[in-house]
Amino acid sequence: MLPIVIASDHAGFSLKEQVKKHLEEKGIEYKDLGTNSAESVDYPEYASKLCKEIQEGRSDLGILVCGTGIGMSMVANKHKGIRAACVSDVFSAKATRMHNAANVLCFGERVVGAGLAFELVDAFLSTEYEGGRHQRRVDMVNSFDK
Ligand code: RB5
Repeated sequence: MLPIVIASDHAGFSLKEQVKKHLEEKGIEYKDLGTNSAESVDYPEYASKLCKEIQEGRSDLGILVCGTGIGMSMVANKHKGIRAACVSDVFSAKATRMHNAANVLCFGERVVGAGLAFELVDAFLSTEYEGGRHQRRVDMVNSFDK
């Protein structure tokens, strides 16, 4: 399995660091694409950097953290082949893998606490896309890439 990629802006930096520790404790390999401090940066830059890692085949799944998760998901979903979901509940974190074949999980440090963030990550990373009846719809989603 390729390493998962993770990135944040300044507003998601602290939670990203906590999520990294959580991944380490679980033995999950990751690549941190920044940011590396709480100094103000622009979330579109970090979302795009992460999406390129997936587009270029160096990773299959990513995690983006900003203040809300929303800006990151907006940017990510403008990248071909990226299906990003901004979630703050465990059911949605699982369902978006099963039904939407989401490949990027987004959440907000100003929205979820660390405990819930870890649950979102665990649910997202341990759930497989179901395929089958969902594939036609995922193909439709992907058709808007063109
Ligand atoms: C930064 O203040 C904040 O706007 C950003 O982290 C994010 O929440 C945008 O969607």
